[in-house]
Amino acid sequence: MIRIEDEAPADVGAREALLDRAFGPARFRKTSERIREGRLAADGLSLVARDGARLVGTVRLWHVAAGDAGAALLLGPLAVDETLRGEGLGGRLMRRVLNRAASLGHRAVLLVGDAPYYARFGFAAEAAAGLAMPGPFERHRLLGLDLSPGALGRAAGLVLPTGAPTPAETLVPAADAAALPALAKRAALP
Ligand SMILES: CC(C)(COP(=O)(O)OP(=O)(O)OC[C@H]1O[C@@H](n2cnc3c(N)ncnc32)[C@H](O)[C@@H]1OP(=O)(O)O)[C@@H](O)C(=O)NCCC(=O)NCCS
Repeated sequence: MIRIEDEAPADVGAREALLDRAFGPARFRKTSERIREGRLAADGLSLVARDGARLVGTVRLWHVAAGDAGAALLLGPLAVDETLRGEGLGGRLMRRVLNRAASLGHRAVLLVGDAPYYARFGFAAEAAAGLAMPGPFERHRLLGLDLSPGALGRAAGLVLPTGAPTPAETLVPAADAAALPALAKRAALP
């Protein structure tokens, strides 16, 4: 039986390996990745699917500002292990994370993806027609979904990251930390 659970810190390696297999290295060149990099995903909105101990699915949501509509979430990446596709797992991950987002009070979700897949969850290009990604993107693949009626409305402007920086961005890098005692001593000299 495949279970859907919150992602744990120990899942990062297996999640990244699954994303490498699903998207290849080109995934790091996407404009969506520019929004995600160096940021924490939204609290409670990183889910994984497990088949026993094996991680077989992943989906995450990220804080953004949706132009003049304000706070929203960006969904992605979504991936299911190649051996388990077409069995409804992607749909289960999507419904679980969208229900969770709605229950946490989030009002709208955006993503860049295939409309023929995401339309079944209510996503539509019309909902994001006035919005633009802050880099190259395909207009027909920028999709929106209101979790709260009218949340996106006639939203216009750029989709920009608003998530908290990852701890690595706020901590002193290890190399600098090692130099701190010496720097402190130097600062104390007349
Ligand atoms: C997209 C993905 C997450 C779907 O997971 P899944 O577990 O196979 O999804 P489900 O079983 O819930 O749905 C399967 C259905 O979606 C359809 N589908 C899958 N990918 C699709 C796509 N890109 N466009 C249109 N339809 C798609 C399948 O044909 C199937 O249709 P059916 O229900 O009529 O048979 C999975 O195929 C995957 O990981 N793909 C590689 C990564 C990727 O492309 N992620 C999405 C980025 S847009």
